[in-house]
Amino acid sequence: MNPFVKIQEWLNKETELGSYDCNRVILATASKKGIPHSRVVAIREINEQGVLFFTQRGSRKVVELNENPFASMTLWLPAQQREVILDGHVQTLNSHENIDYWNALPRDRQLRFNTYGPTSGKIIHSLTELENKYAELSAHFHQQKIPISESYCGYRLIPETIYFYTLGTETFSEVVRCKNMQEKWLAEMLSP
Ligand SMILES: Cc1cc2nc3c(=O)[nH]c(=O)nc-3n(C[C@H](O)[C@H](O)[C@H](O)COP(=O)(O)O)c2cc1C
Repeated sequence: MNPFVKIQEWLNKETELGSYDCNRVILATASKKGIPHSRVVAIREINEQGVLFFTQRGSRKVVELNENPFASMTLWLPAQQREVILDGHVQTLNSHENIDYWNALPRDRQLRFNTYGPTSGKIIHSLTELENKYAELSAHFHQQKIPISESYCGYRLIPETIYFYTLGTETFSEVVRCKNMQEKWLAEMLSP
């Protein structure tokens, strides 16, 4: 069984059933002291290489992933009452890859990222501060290419174990665990 094919099938079905923004996952990290924290991130790509997401260098998740690269992602598919849990470690993208993905972003996203990226997670007094900065940057880069924000960074979660959980309403829930055995994935059914 190829778990990435199965994830894609579940995602396609979720979209067919009317869910939107199915590319959001809960990303859990832990500090080196083992203190956990989780948040939503958008998946940019999901394939055999792993799950790609982008974030800001100053953020808590980046600090924690630098200290402890082990992380867990949960993809919740409400229309099907299913979840996919991916446990593994992260790798950072190299600067060329970051630039390629940056160049593919719409201009507005690039401007917004340059606006909040450097101060991400820091205290601000109102959104007006960011709106003013956005307007300044927009005027400054008028009809020019917007340079990559120093804060922009991509990570790939490389899963070692993937759990597929289907909630049973009138029957038992089904749980399948897929373990990465280097050459292939080992799929085993677990009692729910
Ligand atoms: C729908 C949604 C999508 C989000 N997507 C991202 C994302 O792709 N990358 C990101 O860094 N933060 C994203 N966020 C914000 C994070 O959930 C989080 O609040 C922020 O990154 C700070 O996280 P941290 O302090 O734990 O590092 C998103 C939030 C929501 C509600």
